[in-house]
Amino acid sequence: MTARTSDIEKAAGVLRAGGLVALPTETVYGLGANAEDPAAVSHIFQVKGRPPSHPLIVHIGSAEHLDDWVEDVPATARLLAERFWPGPLTLVLRRGRRVPLEATGGLETVAVRVPDHPVALALLSAFGGGVTAPSANRFGSVSPTTADDVRAELGDGVDFVLDGGPCEVGVESTIVDATGEIPTILRPGGVTREDLEAVLGCPLVVPATSHIRVPGQHPSHYAPRARVVLVEPEKVVAEAELAQELGHRVGVFLPPAFAGAEVKAHAVVQVPGSMAAYARGLYGFLRELDLRGCDLIVASLPAEEGLGLAIANRLRRAAGPRTTV
Ligand code: TXA
Ligand code: MG
Repeated sequence: MTARTSDIEKAAGVLRAGGLVALPTETVYGLGANAEDPAAVSHIFQVKGRPPSHPLIVHIGSAEHLDDWVEDVPATARLLAERFWPGPLTLVLRRGRRVPLEATGGLETVAVRVPDHPVALALLSAFGGGVTAPSANRFGSVSPTTADDVRAELGDGVDFVLDGGPCEVGVESTIVDATGEIPTILRPGGVTREDLEAVLGCPLVVPATSHIRVPGQHPSHYAPRARVVLVEPEKVVAEAELAQELGHRVGVFLPPAFAGAEVKAHAVVQVPGSMAAYARGLYGFLRELDLRGCDLIVASLPAEEGLGLAIANRLRRAAGPRTTV
């Protein structure tokens, strides 16, 4: 934790005054506003360049405050909150009256989580209310995992950046629709499906389609400037070298099994063998290859178990078709 008490107080003051604060969480940095201030919440969408129909997550300081923000909490949702908060799990529940429709994109449900980061928790405690925060990146681009990433993404668009060091988890929270009897995973993330299933005692379905429950799908998300191409792990080196020969500036995500291999490409990132380290580094790797001027990234998917499920989801979406709006 690098933020000082005076920074926390300042950030809480900015939120009270209707401003925007970038805050560290254990997953990625968020772009936060007072959840109960519709004008401040609307400002988030402007700064991010995000369609207003795309709902936000309300961050709260403790599971004890859950009922202040939502209604009709099913027993399973309470169990998940008890077990995983603070932590990288977001629960979608019925919207409480306190939550403005601006924060939910007009939905009657709201996404809530308690972040597991000392700076975020200190801010939530000093501020006293809820903080709506999407990831602090421009809409569709790579989420920030350091305070410098936030400044590079949003510049003057944010009133204050709280620096809490690099994010430990590195991919966003797992989003679970907990409104019904049987919870469903809307977005895989920092809490694994296996962890959730162990607590619930039943298998969970991860819908094959995107987690975005708003009109209009946005296939390309979490995307660097460079185009991302996914191939089988054993084809990464050959495909990268071919594209490089054809004149691309190729960045390679070299799979762990090929560690140390010589690759004739513009830039090489060695993918860590541990999924926790891969998740922690993923967005930084994508940013690095952009910074190094790559126009094409060749990568493969990890096994889709544990944190590998979230990593594969982000890589697939980074490789998704680009839409120009
Ligand atoms: O780890 C995280 O979740 C980070 C940190 C900052 O907490 N936040 C984050 O926020 O990833 P964002 O806005 O980038 O992604 C939130 C996702 C969106 O894709 C949105 O569609 C979904 O949550 N979401 C929010 N409210 C929802 C709702 N009521 N129903 C279904 N999905 C919802
Ligand atoms: Mg995001």
